[in-house]
Amino acid sequence: MTNAALQFQDGDRLGRVAAVDTSRVLISVENHQHMTTIAVGNLIAIQGRTAAEFLIGIVERATRSVSEKLLLDETADDGSIPLGESQEDLIKAVLIGTYRTVDGSSSNTFKRGADCFPQVDRDCFHVNSKNLQQFMNLLSMKVKEGERLTLGHFMADQTAIAVANGDKFFQRHAAILGSTGSGKSWAVALMLERAAALKSANLIVLDMHGEYSTLCDGPNAIAQQYRIAGPGDLDKPDDGCLFLPYWLLNREEMLALILDRSDDNAPNQAARFTEHVRSLKEKVLSDSKKAEVLATFTVDSPIPYPLNGMIECLKKDNVGRVPGAKEGTDKEGPWFNKLTRFITRMETKVSDKRVGFMFQPPAMCSEYGWLEKMLGSLFSVSDAQRGIKIIDFSEVPSDVLPIVTGVLARLLYSIQFWMDKDSRHPLTIICDEAHLYLPVRDSAEAAEKRALESFERIAKEGRKYGVSLLVVSQRPSDVSRTILSQCNNFLVLRLTNDQDQSVVKRLMPESMGGITDILPLLDLGEGLLLGDSILLPTRIKLDKPKIEPASATRQFWTDWATQTPKPDAVSKAVEALRRQVR
Ligand SMILES: Nc1ncnc2c1ncn2[C@@H]1O[C@H](COP(=O)(O)OP(=O)(O)OP(=O)(O)O)[C@@H](O)[C@H]1O
Ligand SMILES: [Mg+2]
Repeated sequence: MTNAALQFQDGDRLGRVAAVDTSRVLISVENHQHMTTIAVGNLIAIQGRTAAEFLIGIVERATRSVSEKLLLDETADDGSIPLGESQEDLIKAVLIGTYRTVDGSSSNTFKRGADCFPQVDRDCFHVNSKNLQQFMNLLSMKVKEGERLTLGHFMADQTAIAVANGDKFFQRHAAILGSTGSGKSWAVALMLERAAALKSANLIVLDMHGEYSTLCDGPNAIAQQYRIAGPGDLDKPDDGCLFLPYWLLNREEMLALILDRSDDNAPNQAARFTEHVRSLKEKVLSDSKKAEVLATFTVDSPIPYPLNGMIECLKKDNVGRVPGAKEGTDKEGPWFNKLTRFITRMETKVSDKRVGFMFQPPAMCSEYGWLEKMLGSLFSVSDAQRGIKIIDFSEVPSDVLPIVTGVLARLLYSIQFWMDKDSRHPLTIICDEAHLYLPVRDSAEAAEKRALESFERIAKEGRKYGVSLLVVSQRPSDVSRTILSQCNNFLVLRLTNDQDQSVVKRLMPESMGGITDILPLLDLGEGLLLGDSILLPTRIKLDKPKIEPASATRQFWTDWATQTPKPDAVSKAVEALRRQVR
C-alpha cells in the first residue's frame, strides 16, 4: 500500500462524522489545531466501508462556537462542579467522490459520486500537503494521454498540473462564463493554442471584436483569419474576406430581414416571395442542367438566384392586371399595390453597403460552384494553422448579427449532417460574446429567433453529427437557457453579477451550489471547472496563452499620466466612420 495516493498519519485526523444527509456531512473536529488551516474549498477524506476506501468531500463551511458549560469531569476545591469554556468546531462538506487505494486489480482509483453514505463516527482526515499533491496528480493522470487538455494549475496545490479530458470537454458543448475582463478571451486563446498542437484540430471562432487576429499573424500564427466583408471590402475583396450571399438564407431568415410582420399585406408578400424564389431557383437549375437537384430541391436549398430577377418579378406582381368580367376589360390583379412596401424594404437592404456582404457580393459568389469552395476552406484542416479558423464579425451591423451567425452555424451544421458518416471530422464552433446573438428566447426578436433555432439545433442534436458549441459570455443570464442547459462543462471565471451567478448555480447539480459561492472572489485568469471533463469540480489558475488576444485592458490612469493622444486621431476616425472603412 506504499504507493497509495492518500496515506494518512494520526496527525492528519480531523475528527469524526457527526451527521449525514444525502450529499452533505457534518464533521465534529476533535483536532482543534487543524481548524485554523481548514479553508472553504479544501478537500477532506472520510473513511469508507473498508480501510482501502475513502469518501472525498469539499469543505463548504467551517464554524467554531465557544460556549460555557459545566465541566462534569472536574470538581473544584470546595466540592462544586466548575464552569468552563468549551469549544466546538464543525465542518460541513459536500461529498463528491470515492477514492480507493485498491479496487479489484487496479490501484488508486477515483470516481465521481459517493458510493455509500458515510456512517456516524467514521474518521475524517484533512487532505493536505503531500496527500493533496498526490491526489491532484492522480486526477490528472487519470486522463488518457491522447485526451489531455492541459489548462493550468490547481489552486489547491499549485505544483499539480490541471488536466481536463479534452474529448469530454468538447464532445457535448461547453461554456466559458465570467464578468467582463475576467479572462475569457485569454482562456479561449489558451484552448486554441492547445488545440493547434493537435494534428488536425477543427475549430471555428465567431470573433465579434476582431480580438483573435493576433493568433493569425506572424511566424507563430496558429490560426487562419477570415473576415465578414465590410463596406470597404466590396470593391476589392482580399482572400480572407467572407461573403454570405442572400441566397444562402432560407425563406424564414430572408423574411425575418425584409418582411414587416405588422404590414397588412405581409402574408401576401411572403407568399409571393416564396413562389418567386422557388421558380428562380428552378430556372437556374434547369439552365445549368442539374436534373438531379431539380428533381428534389426545396425553396430553402442553397442555390444561387438573381436578386434583381426577384425584384422584377415582385414589381410585375405589384402592377399586374387580370382580365375583367366583361370581355375586353381588365382589373387590378390579386397583388396589385400590395407589395410596394416589401419591394422598397428589399431595395433598401440591397443598396445598404453595411450588409453588402449579403446583398452586394462579387459576381463569383453567384456561381453554382462557389459554395463548395467557400465551405471547403472553412472545413479545411490540412495543417494545424488551417484547422483553427477565426471569423471576424466586427464590421457586421448589430441588427443583422444574429441572422448572419445563425446562417453560418446552420450551414456548418448542415454540411456535417449531410456528410458521409465516415467522412465527418469533429467541429467545434466557439461563440464568443454569445449574449449578442443567442439571447434568451422570450426577449428574442424575429431575426434572433431564427439564429437561436440554428444554434439550439446544434446544441440538441450536434453531438450525433460531430458538431459542438463552446459558448463564451459575460452575461450568462442573457444567453439562451436551452443552449446553456445543454452544456456539459463549464469554466466559470470571476462572476460578480447576482443574476449571472444564480444562472450558473441553477445549471449546477444541487450539491455543487455551495462551491459556486466563491465565483465573485476569483482572481484574473482563475476559474472553476465543473463538468464531466474533470473528475472533481476544481479551482484552476489558467495558464497564460503564448499569443495574447488583442483584448488588453487599458491602463486608464497610467495612460492619462504618460501618453499624449495624436492630434489627428479624431479627424481620421470621423472620416473612417463616414466611409465605414477601418
Ligand atoms: N490567465 C491569466 N493570467 C493572468 N492575467 C490574465 C489571465 N487571463 C486574463 N488576464 C488579464 O485579464 C485581462 C482581460 O482578459 P480577457 O480579455 O480575456 O477578458 P474577457 O473575460 O474576455 O473580457 P470581455 O468579456 O470584456 O471580453 C487581460 O488583458 C489580462 O491582463
Ligand atoms: Mg473577451
